[in-house]
Amino acid sequence: MLSYPWTVAVALSSVSSALAASSISYVSHPERLEFVKEIFQRSWDGYYKYAFPNDSLKPISRSYMNDRNGWGASAVDAISTALVMGNQDVVNQIVDHIRTIQFNQTAQGAEQVSLFETTIRYLGGMVSAYDFMTSSAMSYGDAQTDAAVILEQAINLADLLSVAFDTPSGVPINNLIFNGPAGPVVDDTQTTNGLATIGTLVLEWTRLSDITGDPKYAELTQVAEDYLLNVRNPQVGEPYPGLVGSNVNVSNGNFVDSSGAWTGGTDSFYEYLIKMYLYDTDRFAVYKDRWIAAVDSSMEYLASSPSSRPDLTFMAGYRGYGKDNLVFQSQHLACFDGGNIILGGLVLDRQDYVDFGLALVNGCHDTYISTYTGIGPEIFNWQDSKLAPNATNNAPAPSDYTDFYEKAGFWIPSGDGTYQLRPEVIESYYYAYRATGDTKYQDWAWDAIQNINETCIAGVGYSSITDVNAPGGGSKIDAQESFWFAEVLKYSYLIQADDAPWQVSADHDNTWVYNTEAHPFKISGKPI
Ligand SMILES: *[C@@H]1O[C@H](CO)[C@@H](O)[C@H](O)[C@H]1NC(C)=O
Ligand SMILES: *[C@@H]1O[C@H](CO)[C@@H](O)[C@H](O)[C@H]1NC(C)=O
Ligand SMILES: *[C@@H]1O[C@H](CO)[C@@H](O)[C@H](O)[C@H]1NC(C)=O
Ligand SMILES: *[C@@H]1O[C@H](CO)[C@@H](O)[C@H](O)[C@H]1NC(C)=O
Ligand SMILES: *[C@@H]1O[C@H](CO)[C@@H](O)[C@H](O)[C@H]1NC(C)=O
Repeated sequence: MLSYPWTVAVALSSVSSALAASSISYVSHPERLEFVKEIFQRSWDGYYKYAFPNDSLKPISRSYMNDRNGWGASAVDAISTALVMGNQDVVNQIVDHIRTIQFNQTAQGAEQVSLFETTIRYLGGMVSAYDFMTSSAMSYGDAQTDAAVILEQAINLADLLSVAFDTPSGVPINNLIFNGPAGPVVDDTQTTNGLATIGTLVLEWTRLSDITGDPKYAELTQVAEDYLLNVRNPQVGEPYPGLVGSNVNVSNGNFVDSSGAWTGGTDSFYEYLIKMYLYDTDRFAVYKDRWIAAVDSSMEYLASSPSSRPDLTFMAGYRGYGKDNLVFQSQHLACFDGGNIILGGLVLDRQDYVDFGLALVNGCHDTYISTYTGIGPEIFNWQDSKLAPNATNNAPAPSDYTDFYEKAGFWIPSGDGTYQLRPEVIESYYYAYRATGDTKYQDWAWDAIQNINETCIAGVGYSSITDVNAPGGGSKIDAQESFWFAEVLKYSYLIQADDAPWQVSADHDNTWVYNTEAHPFKISGKPI
């Protein structure tokens, strides 16, 4: 074990103990649930009328875009939320659509297929719908018939995507072209692939293998994942125990850099390590060991408090080993980290992980409540409280943010104040609430969704905005992302809802695990 001359204190104020509580009681808020359902319906109606069966709604121009190959991304991504909300009309509309998708053809201008995005949104949505429809926890008249249709389409899609893994190492190429004359091919100008785009396939593809009884899907992704779990060139690829680089050479599986964080591009690799263990503790014990190594290193070396707010905890990034290589910047995308570390703490009975996760959740909450709109920015920076203020990687707040930084503990780099209908902060509130039963997290989620409704409502749906720290959120981007349906509205709903089999449990009796797109999958070996 390496040791370092410096450590960063973790601010653990405003944290409560969770693990003792084996019978947490949860509170349901019917009026809040109704509000979230109304937002879902409004978003769906706008999409269905003006964009379906294209991918996404442009709510202001009442038009559509095909940003995910033209297979109806918003519909497929919405299905598990519609199921959880009991919205049978929308479920039926989506199943009727899934039946007709021709995955071997892509919309004009949307020819490039991302293995990662297609896996988490389309394959994830279909696998989750299959699991719900075949589960006794949620059945309706035609559920078995619908499930069969959806499974067939999930297999069609996975078979087409499988070409991605046909590389010398087995590390997939992310970008594919599906509609060539000879069927799908890889974009062979790509020589590397990213940590998250390699490491966020294994749950979906393993689940598909377990459902179908055909191991080939699991095997493809597990071969690729092995290069991430057992780093071949750790002197480059693993600057801290368990914390790895960002890009991998597809020809030999070596890491090509030493930079990383729990941010976009690397994030859900770490997320899936503990989720695989939750999915099957026997098959994925090594994934758990790697998650523990990553979280232990994160607590020791990446946890950072801003100089103006030592009570807050953020997570730094790195450009290699050592304190001079830390990067005091994080992202909305990274705010899933608190929730994931809480989940791991529950699964492993580690109160220290739960407490660290809750501290991170509190930091991300601060990025919401400090802005003009009450919504957090895409990217935020801070000055670390422990590192010398004249260190080259520890710059102070820019002058126009001095007062803001003094109060808030972060500033927003120029142009990075967008909010793109992302879920991660509310997602982490959800895990914090499920772990503790502390209703303040429900209140935080309620405040967030109300502010989002107020600020992002646009035309016939909801839109990304340019500046969370400006009145009205700056201007609207005229785009309603599919994960708005899959994630933001699902977590906003579940945190206010009654207990249910698919809710995350603080005890050791989870029967569902959520993919990174918030699609719940049945855990291996649990009763139907
Ligand atoms: C998108 O919608 C337009 C207008 O309804 C329709 O003509 C077109 O076929 C759709 N394209 C796809 C890929 O769904
Ligand atoms: C695409 O798949 C459909 C079945 O979903 C099949 O009928 C069709 O022939 C295929 N088209 C091409 C170009 O392979
Ligand atoms: C990837 O590995 C191959 C084979 O070892 C090597 O020729 C190539 O330069 C490497 N590419 C990168 C980007 O490191
Ligand atoms: C930072 O400030 C300290 C104390 O004033 C000084 O000793 C050190 O040389 C400075 N370092 C840099 C990189 O300027
Ligand atoms: C969302 O905000 C709008 C604008 O303030 C408001 O009219 C609407 O009632 C809100 N939505 C719901 C579901 O209450």
